[in-house]
Amino acid sequence: SHKNEHDMMDHSTMNMENDHASHTNPIALNDSTGQNEIALPSIIEPQNGLVNITAQQGETEIFDGFQTMTYGYNGSFLGPVIKIKSGENVTLRTKNDLLEPTTFHWHGLDIPGDGDGGPHQILKQGQSVDVNFTVNQGASTLWFHPHPEGATAEQVYKGLAGLIYIEDDNSLKLNLPNDYGKNDFPLIFQDRHFTDEKQFDYNAVQNADGTIGNTLLVNGTFNPKLTVGRERIRLRLLNGSNARNYTFKLNTGDAFQQIATDGGFLNKSIELHEITLTPGERAEIIIDFSKFDAESDVALVNEENIRLLPFKIEHPKSSSTAIAEVLNDYMVTEEEKSLPVTKQLELFGMGKMVTINNQQFDMHRIDFTQKLGETEIWEVYNKPDTMGGMIHPFHIHGTQFKVVSIDGEDPAASLQGWKDTISIEPNQTVKLAVKFNNKGIYMFHCHLLEHEENGMMGQVEVK
Ligand code: C2O
Ligand code: CU
Repeated sequence: SHKNEHDMMDHSTMNMENDHASHTNPIALNDSTGQNEIALPSIIEPQNGLVNITAQQGETEIFDGFQTMTYGYNGSFLGPVIKIKSGENVTLRTKNDLLEPTTFHWHGLDIPGDGDGGPHQILKQGQSVDVNFTVNQGASTLWFHPHPEGATAEQVYKGLAGLIYIEDDNSLKLNLPNDYGKNDFPLIFQDRHFTDEKQFDYNAVQNADGTIGNTLLVNGTFNPKLTVGRERIRLRLLNGSNARNYTFKLNTGDAFQQIATDGGFLNKSIELHEITLTPGERAEIIIDFSKFDAESDVALVNEENIRLLPFKIEHPKSSSTAIAEVLNDYMVTEEEKSLPVTKQLELFGMGKMVTINNQQFDMHRIDFTQKLGETEIWEVYNKPDTMGGMIHPFHIHGTQFKVVSIDGEDPAASLQGWKDTISIEPNQTVKLAVKFNNKGIYMFHCHLLEHEENGMMGQVEVK
């Protein structure tokens, strides 16, 4: 169709201009008109330690008057927030009601390898399995999504993604906004391409570096807006896109506070004017709306000033008290800084020719082993090619790591916290302090989902 040709042209233009290394994306998003109040996932908590999660297919009215074929967990589209507590023993009862195989991967969760939901843990249609673990990490916003070899990207695209909130004793004492749906909101950013009949058009963009769409959904809502009060509002941002990067800013130019990285709170909130999240990454931010009023035009925009999420400001001003000065006790120790590099990884390539240490993924090959509970330094280098190369968001399963250095320097303040996915620019070298608290086989890969599908993935066995 005409649309396809247009997209392919956009992509080849991108290649010629060598835009890969920048934060710009090959196809622009449409501005949100703010027509629809954003959907909020329901929250589920363990009942007697048990949480049921079923992957299913259904239909969702994303656009007025159209039914889109979608995938979801416990519903037709996306998934609930699974809320669990540090120290709690939890059984996740997973079931596959799709008409194809899937897996349940808990992105960012410290979980035994056989429950991690990587490509080895396939559930066929109708199958069910229990995953039991004890929550042994701090307050954080994690997520879950499928991971079957060859179908991860498309299943996520159709709607399989949900959030996990971990709470701990600390998080409840910090005076952070935590009234769900009032001053504490999850925001899942995903760009999509739709056919004229408003069906997901996964193959519309023949872009092996990842599927980029022109239509933004936030929590699955098209043309979203978020109604907020005149108070401090906490936003838990997830880049749940297959391949698009977002640099989030306020259209007013105002600053906001970042309070958390992928895997927990920063030690202190930091003031930022923008934050970039690559696929798989999360951040929690606080925006102070008390200085705005009902007439203010406030929106989250991206690096191209496209309106991602306009805010509707309502309700009288409420007096929000100051958030705690100290949020966490994260640190990279001197010992960790002085450890030798014991694993080296070289990310290379674009499109279908993507490799880690010159190899593509092989489910029958273990690339590394690591001892349980031992910290090792992984040095990950993004090797540029003659065209400059591109950003790869590097993710490790089953753990949260520390960023020790980037090109030999301390990481930026917004990376001084627990991470499970790190954006690596061409020619950058990052050193990560990696420790696993459970045994098993874990994936590490580029979180551009089409790069992962194309083999930019390896396996570490923890013994
Ligand atoms: Cu979001 Cu292999 O992970
Ligand atoms: Cu990549």
